[in-house]
Amino acid sequence: MKIKFSYLLLFCTSLSITACSAQQNKTDDIMPQNEPKAVALHNDPYAKKIDSLLSIMTLEEKAGQMNQYNGFWEVTGPAPKDGDAALKYEHLRNGRVGSMLTVRGVDQVRAVQELVVEESRLGIPLIIGFDVIHGYKTLSPIPLAEAASWDMDAIKRSAEVGAAEAAASGINWTFAPMVDVSRDARWGRVMEGGGEDPYLGSKIAAARVKGFQGEDLSDPLTVAATAKHFAGYGFAEAGREYNKADIGNSTLYNIILPPFRAAEEAGVRTFMTGFNTLDEIPVTGNEFILRDILKGKWGFDGFVISDYASIEEMVTHGFVRDEKMATKQAIRAGVDMDMESYSYVNEIMALVEEGKLDEALVDDAVRRILRVKYELGLMDDPYKYLDKEREAEVVGNPAHHEAVLDMAKKSIVLLKNERNLLPLKKNGQKIALIGDLADDKNSPLGSWRIASDDNTAVSVLEGMQKYEGNELTFEQGAQLVVGEESFLTEVNFNTTDKSGFPAAVEAAKNADVVVMVLGEHGFQSGEGRSRTNLDLPGVQQELLEKVYEANKNVVLVLNNGRPLAIDWAAENIPAIVEAWQLGTETGNAVAQVLYGDYNPSGKLPMTFPRNIGQTPIYYNHQNTGRPEDPAPGEERVWWSHYMDVENTPLYPFGYGLSYTTFNYDNLKLNKDQYEMGEDVQVSVDLTNTGNYDGKEVVQLYIRDLYGSTVRPVRELKGFELVNLKKGEKRTINFTLTEDELGFYTNDGEYVVEPGEFEVFVGGNSVETLKTSFMLGEE
Ligand code: NOJ
Repeated sequence: MKIKFSYLLLFCTSLSITACSAQQNKTDDIMPQNEPKAVALHNDPYAKKIDSLLSIMTLEEKAGQMNQYNGFWEVTGPAPKDGDAALKYEHLRNGRVGSMLTVRGVDQVRAVQELVVEESRLGIPLIIGFDVIHGYKTLSPIPLAEAASWDMDAIKRSAEVGAAEAAASGINWTFAPMVDVSRDARWGRVMEGGGEDPYLGSKIAAARVKGFQGEDLSDPLTVAATAKHFAGYGFAEAGREYNKADIGNSTLYNIILPPFRAAEEAGVRTFMTGFNTLDEIPVTGNEFILRDILKGKWGFDGFVISDYASIEEMVTHGFVRDEKMATKQAIRAGVDMDMESYSYVNEIMALVEEGKLDEALVDDAVRRILRVKYELGLMDDPYKYLDKEREAEVVGNPAHHEAVLDMAKKSIVLLKNERNLLPLKKNGQKIALIGDLADDKNSPLGSWRIASDDNTAVSVLEGMQKYEGNELTFEQGAQLVVGEESFLTEVNFNTTDKSGFPAAVEAAKNADVVVMVLGEHGFQSGEGRSRTNLDLPGVQQELLEKVYEANKNVVLVLNNGRPLAIDWAAENIPAIVEAWQLGTETGNAVAQVLYGDYNPSGKLPMTFPRNIGQTPIYYNHQNTGRPEDPAPGEERVWWSHYMDVENTPLYPFGYGLSYTTFNYDNLKLNKDQYEMGEDVQVSVDLTNTGNYDGKEVVQLYIRDLYGSTVRPVRELKGFELVNLKKGEKRTINFTLTEDELGFYTNDGEYVVEPGEFEVFVGGNSVETLKTSFMLGEE
């Protein structure tokens, strides 16, 4: 057995998380014996400057650097006189704030920055954070949609665009990428991540970090990135927001942590904790994952921020008695900056002065924060990101529209295309476009788009109107939402008003083809948007069925921030296009795909279930001891299944069609027996057998047939985007190294074990073309 890399911990060798965490000293009365130690930051070019600054800082000023406040007033207006805003204002002037979030725009940022730089004793500039999740003003598709492109260059470019616009607006730091792996479509924040797979998720994490941060953090068109939410938030029990996460060690090491590790290796400058507990310990106070793994084993040299108020929420969780104890525990665990709990600014001084918290931990936190400020160039010029001309030129720049349109087209997944209903003919057709979302310029912007203006997406209707050779009629069918549409309120759906149905049915009867745009509203996914039902909301399913009765040539265009359970549509509707929420250029992207000016190539980054009862459902599951019906047809009971629905998903991970077809054959290895440590060369022939030029995401999966822990039935270990002209054939090569052939044991050791492996190559996670090899000697 070869050990390549190990997460093994100094204090936690071969202990479970629970046992290890039990070593955390919970008392807040004394300085604990096993006080965690700050590790020296290696290769810090700013070390001397930081040391000299630290030496003149008061404890109050140090605590200030560790304090982040949310934006609170029109900063360019008069100073607030009372309440919370007045307190924050005073703290800014007194050097008791190191960062702000959600202040944006050159004028606003300049106003707070001046307050701090010119009025506080040391004038240490703020670092300004913001949720640039899928763009700033010009919006890219939601991150889950981008993941469907499997195109790392496009994803990186999309992050660059968001970074440039945000930085030009005075922002230094984005709270993205969210790299939480999630298998549960009930959880509303799956829209914000890279899907269910740690391998794809790791590639995406690295691409996004590189896109946001660029080559040089001091470039005024880049921002520092954040890997969030460390860790386990995507496994919220039952998909309910903010819920606990129960994760075994194998899942933690093999599924949850790899994308974080990839972000760290890509140089991400900050990590954010989450709201969840992990094995009953809030991650914001979790020494095991923050201090031991992240800062210890991985040697992370940036800083860690809490999630919004997650330090004080440790009191509500029932983990600590009060905010003072919460502060102590968060700092001991390794949280360097407090987002809007007020805990650090209120409690750090007393804790240190009373001898309950080691000031060295405070110094370490401040050092990390200052280092990132130096890297951003803020310490040399606090106003370097504040240039009105640059802001006017960069924010909303036409080149950014091109980039997000490109990303949007690449994100679309063709789920079904019977009778070659798509692409649509460009001339002489009567097309009925039906559905409230078809005419919507707001919902397609998706969730998390604080800096963009409402109603600025190109709607599908507008996109389709550009194709003038056909006769296009639009019918709403039914209003989707009743009342306000906002990030801050719940979305209420119309469940009763069907008065628009007859007109929609009539339009369908008179059309050659019907395009229906149905799905979730953009504010139905995102933070705080868990669902127990994955159907089409409101009266949309009924509308779909009525229209289909009138005209069988229906193309269903889905808008959604998560996998939906669309079993009826999958059974009946001839063509289905997964168009997520595609951001500013939505309508142009959808129209270009529907009309065949862009041949879709997206592949699902999350499994689509047949119904919600199958959730969580994911491709890289393990075999049970009884995975198959031992005697099919005899209605046997004693095997792993549901009585009412088959085990398979509606659409598997990695699935997606093209207007052309691809054939895979001649899957070969360079050997069938390999030494330990030897690379495995895999090749396959791919042929474009259809009538269009097209792009295929060639996917390679392995199965390690038996191991010291049970291995998944498949694991993605390689993929390549291949463009082929119609009729063209190409041999595609992959190399499997130790990085792909091993796994983490329950003790966090990375091992490659000898034995038999299967290799599958195909266009999705259930394709059956396979070969196998032996590794080492058993
Ligand atoms: C809470 C969210 O969980 C986090 O992802 C986000 O960055 C912060 N709020 C700041 O908006």
